[in-house]
Amino acid sequence: QQPVRIAPSILSADFAALGRDVAVITAAGADLIHVDVMDGHFVPNITIGPGVVKALRPHSHKPFDVHLMIAPVDPYVPDFVEAGADIISFHPEAGPHPHRTVQLIKSLGRKAGLVLNPGTPVSAVEPMIGDIDVILVMSVNPGFGGQSFIESQLAKIATLRRMIDASGRAIDLEVDGGITPETARQVVAAGADMLVAGTAVFRGGPKRYATNIAALRGP
Ligand code: DX5
Ligand code: ZN
Repeated sequence: QQPVRIAPSILSADFAALGRDVAVITAAGADLIHVDVMDGHFVPNITIGPGVVKALRPHSHKPFDVHLMIAPVDPYVPDFVEAGADIISFHPEAGPHPHRTVQLIKSLGRKAGLVLNPGTPVSAVEPMIGDIDVILVMSVNPGFGGQSFIESQLAKIATLRRMIDASGRAIDLEVDGGITPETARQVVAAGADMLVAGTAVFRGGPKRYATNIAALRGP
């Protein structure tokens, strides 16, 4: 297993100073920049779109990990590619043709991720395990930062780790929601290698970001 990578979710950043926060978390040790895109339709919250991703892109040299919580997905994929997304992850429930969405993302030269909600079974990724680059396990129901980690997702992470290893493919296993130093330890033990964290990274303000990120990597 590779060393764990930390992807701060800018949903918990200072929205009046997003460019600064992206630069500061990069300097503080972030491995990727996680961007939560919500449409007020697929999830009950509205955040940002490709214009903001494009504006933020020059503020970090790290990969942009774009988590789309929108429906439909396909019409917006080219916009996020153009804006500078490196990984584009989406929820299979967002449309009737998730495999087509994977093909679209891959055809534009970006990494494709499938996101599993807490209520979505691991079987949703099986038909696409030969095509995807990332599996993102939601350990909260998507829509808001600051929610509590849902313990039942640990078994799902362990199952997905076995499926990925059996596939022989280089698929990142990412976990998003309620990640703290304590839950980070649990999900890494279960097989995760990429952690998304909003609250746990941004709490305390810019002077704390480096300490907060280091705490998620564990002792
Ligand atoms: C939830 C988002 C998460 C969220 C994580 O819908 O996908 O990325 O911002 O926030 P915390 O770490 O506060 O649970
Ligand atoms: Zn997310």
